[in-house]
Amino acid sequence: NLLYGAALGGVLPRVPVDFATLEAQACAALPPSVRTYVQGGCGDEHTQRHNADAFRHWGLTPRMMVDCRQRDLSIDLFGMRLPSPVFMAPIGVTGMCMQDGHGDLAAARASASTGVPLMASTLSNDPLESVAAACGDTPGFFQLYTPKNEALTESLVRRAEAAGYKGIVVTLDTWVTGWRPRDLNTGNFPQLRGHVLTNYFSDSVFRSLLAVPPEQDGPAAVRAWAGLFGRVLTWDDMPWLRSLTKLPLILKGICHGDDARRAIDLGADAIYCSNHGGRQANGGIAAINLLPDVVAASGSTPVLFDSGVRSGTDVVKALAMGATAVGIGRPYSYGLALDGEAGAAHVLRCILAEADLLMAVNGYPTIAAVREAGVSRQG
Ligand code: FNR
Repeated sequence: NLLYGAALGGVLPRVPVDFATLEAQACAALPPSVRTYVQGGCGDEHTQRHNADAFRHWGLTPRMMVDCRQRDLSIDLFGMRLPSPVFMAPIGVTGMCMQDGHGDLAAARASASTGVPLMASTLSNDPLESVAAACGDTPGFFQLYTPKNEALTESLVRRAEAAGYKGIVVTLDTWVTGWRPRDLNTGNFPQLRGHVLTNYFSDSVFRSLLAVPPEQDGPAAVRAWAGLFGRVLTWDDMPWLRSLTKLPLILKGICHGDDARRAIDLGADAIYCSNHGGRQANGGIAAINLLPDVVAASGSTPVLFDSGVRSGTDVVKALAMGATAVGIGRPYSYGLALDGEAGAAHVLRCILAEADLLMAVNGYPTIAAVREAGVSRQG
């Protein structure tokens, strides 16, 4: 309503409110190397496109004569009351979405101002401690790329705990980088240039593994990181993963009901259904189409979801299909690219405003009502 009021007053938003315009403007603004990295995906990007397109095949049915003047979008997650069912997915190159290289801090400040939790990536440009501090009172989560070295893994988790993160998100689908033609064609892997390895370079265990500190030989430190990246995790590692922390343990990348059940049996506190936005494997089923099986298999365990969410409508559909909370990925990076913290906050607020308005019009005063209404398959 604020946006409508401003528009009536002739004030236009600095950052577009729809995804197509947002992406086009952000991609024009980003340096080419960052643009291909953020916008690109795996193979011919069929899975990436399908992730977003597949939402159209699910439809909501409105209910009438329901008093929806007040809507409650809040959710319970791990004993915390969160003001909305949306979170910022971990994005490893976030820092570079801003010219000053501090996009991670800007994203964290957008989290602080919107109450939308940030999942801070291991591959951040600023240390995880500074990112946590910039989140203010909004709870944050730390996303772990598990290095091959156990002591280094433990050190990252200890630091995340000490910094006040409220959960550890272990990404399962990225022990090796997928086939990304845009990056391969341009020889562009930003992380290999060391921009986003701050959490490693500042880690005492990592530093103890180097002959000389990263400040003296950056390329050698990047090579050491590359050699350590990507422990291959199997179910046998679950007891060890579980033993790493008492914080909620969230497993990201689970797309099959059997995997969800097994993860829960072995101690996971939440399932994170995602195909990494189609960046890791091509030729897959759209993530949203896999969500119902994962939800059914997960029982009362929370299921987080991302991949292809582009609007408030997509958020409501994912909730209707059983997601506990819904992750925004590329859209907030594009907001950062256009207007830093304010741009990311604007993108999140637009997505929430659209979801809220849709709930108002469709007769869903609460998330429970959204879930009860469900979705139907169409076309
Ligand atoms: C990601 N994603 C990701 N995931 C993760 O667990 N750790 C990471 O560091 C990153 N890094 C990353 C960088 C970029 C540029 C993108 C676009 C994505 C995946 C991310 O968390 C999420 O799963 C996807 O972004 C969801 O897809 P959409 O909705 O953005 O298309």
